[in-house]
Amino acid sequence: MAEQPITPPLSEDPTVRLEELRGEAERAIEAAARAEDLEEARVRYLGRKAELTAVLRSIGQLPADRRGPVGKAANAVRVALEARLSERSSALEAAALEARLGGDRIDVTLPGDPPRPTGHLHLVTQTRREIEDVFVGLGFSVVEGPEVELDYYNFTALNMPPAHPARTLHDTFYLSDEIVLRTHTSPMQVRAMEAQAPPIYIVVPGRVYRRDSDATHTPMFHQIEGLAVDEDITLADLQGVLLEFARAVFGPEREIRLRSGYFPFTEPSVEVDVSCFACAGTGALADGRRDPLCKGSGWIEILGAGMVDPNVFGFVEERGYDPERVQGFAFGLGIDRIAMLKYGVPDLRLMFEGDVRFLEQFGAGA
Ligand code: DAH
Repeated sequence: MAEQPITPPLSEDPTVRLEELRGEAERAIEAAARAEDLEEARVRYLGRKAELTAVLRSIGQLPADRRGPVGKAANAVRVALEARLSERSSALEAAALEARLGGDRIDVTLPGDPPRPTGHLHLVTQTRREIEDVFVGLGFSVVEGPEVELDYYNFTALNMPPAHPARTLHDTFYLSDEIVLRTHTSPMQVRAMEAQAPPIYIVVPGRVYRRDSDATHTPMFHQIEGLAVDEDITLADLQGVLLEFARAVFGPEREIRLRSGYFPFTEPSVEVDVSCFACAGTGALADGRRDPLCKGSGWIEILGAGMVDPNVFGFVEERGYDPERVQGFAFGLGIDRIAMLKYGVPDLRLMFEGDVRFLEQFGAGA
């Protein structure tokens, strides 16, 4: 094969130049302080356009007797440089990790974060749960129902047919002729009986709505309904359950009294008072002044109740509520009112304004 002209560096002894290159590259690799510097050195000395790469590519053009030694020397430089590069790369990575760990070290002498304020349950929620617990302890289950309710369940099936005078007492929000915002939790009595044959023992907490607003009335407030239907239920059962409730919520010394009342869906109906916990039922404070909480009467009204009217059972008779066979009692109470009485809250609207200065005072029971 005819001798080819070769490029200038190789025209001298390429192995000398290769040693020069190795030295230069090794210094560049050692000097690299960051991964980017190292990559730059790799491209410069081993990359596609590197001098060493050119040497390796041109081996074939060397005179036959030079190919072996030059090729060997060039390869040895390449292998050596690759090894150096990878060593240096590991060393840089280790140093970077070390630096990161050093930076992350925790100084335990620094002051900690200030304590975060923790919230607590709203007074109404605390009271609802407290009341639920009492009835669950007596064997009642907790169920909930719709706030947007059919007129049928809110009124008609509770023995208040259209044009019944008692409807006007409810200050109802009508959404249409047939749909209302429920004015009480009582509609769940009929819904629950439709869903479950007797016996039934339930309490129904929830929001109710009336067009009314002053210190003791808000357009939305909370009630808990109770319903017990079984064979041989009497007014004495209602009395026993309510006494238990009154003592659990207002104190073990409390008494209750039932006054005759009127609700369309109970017969007989009663209004229930608890003996006043501010004056222990005496009507007078320790200094002889008239007790303002019970207005000197010694009693505070807490709820309405009664024996389920047979007409109500008439709406669910096919579900097994035969008024000749089963009896029941029902009651309904205002959760917010119970909380107001218990904690001396003077204005119902405070419950729903969300003012933290008010709410914070009731953190203990959370
Ligand atoms: N639903 C009545 C109201 O909101 C309260 C009530 C009274 C519920 C007597 C009852 C009951 O279950 O038997 O005024």
